[in-house]
Amino acid sequence: MEAKDSKVPIYIAILVAVILIAAGGYFILGGPSKPTKVAPTSTPAPSTTVTETTTITPTPVNTSVVTAPATIKCELCHTDPQNYPPHVNGGKLCINCHGSQVHNIHIGPGTVGRDCQTCHGFPPTIPTVANGTGPGHYAVCENCHAPPPDSLKPSYGNLIVIHLSRGKYCTNCHGTDIGAIHAAALANLTKK
Ligand code: HEC
Ligand code: HEC
Ligand code: HEC
Ligand code: HEC
Ligand code: HEC
Repeated sequence: MEAKDSKVPIYIAILVAVILIAAGGYFILGGPSKPTKVAPTSTPAPSTTVTETTTITPTPVNTSVVTAPATIKCELCHTDPQNYPPHVNGGKLCINCHGSQVHNIHIGPGTVGRDCQTCHGFPPTIPTVANGTGPGHYAVCENCHAPPPDSLKPSYGNLIVIHLSRGKYCTNCHGTDIGAIHAAALANLTKK
């Protein structure tokens, strides 16, 4: 490849290698390939049987397959994901992904037991959905969800801080198909 920027071919080479390795790894893991576009996994919370203590416990070592697959660490290349604008401004997006399940989680016995006003204010309004493009923060959700056990302290809506501290990895949102995730970026790089 005769790209002038010497960084580009290296990235492509590594990316291609990683894709091949990852493809094998994920099949072994049998992890469900999610669509490339970020989409909410609408696993409806079972009504009120949630035991809250388990979610607050910090998970120092997580051996579960659900989190970072051992074959690939996204941070290898994405060194400061907590600073990417879409992640920083995540407060606007919470409801897009979690909107339909927030009541089960926060209201009633066996949950964190918030009152309606926490999220709806007074006089009550319905929290709104945003497309996440502009700067700023909209949702009440970011007033909580700092890394456990400080779940009631502000997270300021940082998607990386909120999710990685709770054992949810990049792949929970972006899917495990590293080839598909990077298809557009790869096509752009090779065109340059
Ligand atoms: C070998 C290096 C490498 C690894 C490993 C890697 N990426 Fe990337 N990724 C890139 C490059 C290069 C780009 C394009 C430039 C950029 O956006 O930084 C990119 C772009 C992306 C994009 C934007 C795609 C788009 O079309 O806008 C997402 C999302 C992404 N990566 C997610 C991930 C996730 C999730 C993982 C872990 C499963 C991962 N990456 C692992 C190198 C890598
Ligand atoms: C792009 C979709 C998306 C957005 C935006 C998003 N989340 Fe999530 N979130 C997920 C997924 C996927 C999971 C993992 C769900 C699972 O494992 O069932 C998750 C898990 C969580 C968990 C941990 C659940 C647990 O099991 O401990 C919390 C807390 C959470 N999200 C809060 C938030 C908050 C607050 C915001 C906004 C600042 C937000 N999320 C924005 C997709 C999203
Ligand atoms: C953790 C935050 C939170 C709490 C606490 C909360 N709500 Fe909501 N509520 C929401 C969000 C977010 C929506 C919008 C859901 C959507 O867009 O899918 C909503 C929507 C609603 C709606 C509109 C209809 C619907 O279901 O979408 C009603 C009515 C409502 N809430 C009533 C209540 C009542 C009554 C309480 C107290 C018992 C309460 N909420 C507590 C976050 C909350
Ligand atoms: C007053 C603080 C507070 C507010 C406001 C709040 N939450 Fe939570 N939320 C919590 C606590 C506490 C937990 C349970 C411990 C944990 O998971 O961190 C929790 C748990 C969650 C979970 C994970 C539940 C699970 O599966 O274990 C999600 C998802 C979530 N909140 C989303 C939201 C969204 C979306 C909003 C805004 C509509 C919101 N929260 C508003 C305090 C809050
Ligand atoms: C809670 C869900 C969630 C998690 C966890 C998450 N992301 Fe994202 N990410 C998003 C959303 C939403 C966007 C913006 C929409 C899109 O690009 O699909 C985004 C955008 C990106 C982009 C494009 C950045 C840009 O400026 O356009 C990259 C690269 C990326 N994420 C990489 C990662 C990596 C690496 C991790 C893990 C360290 C990660 N993401 C974890 C939801 C998440």
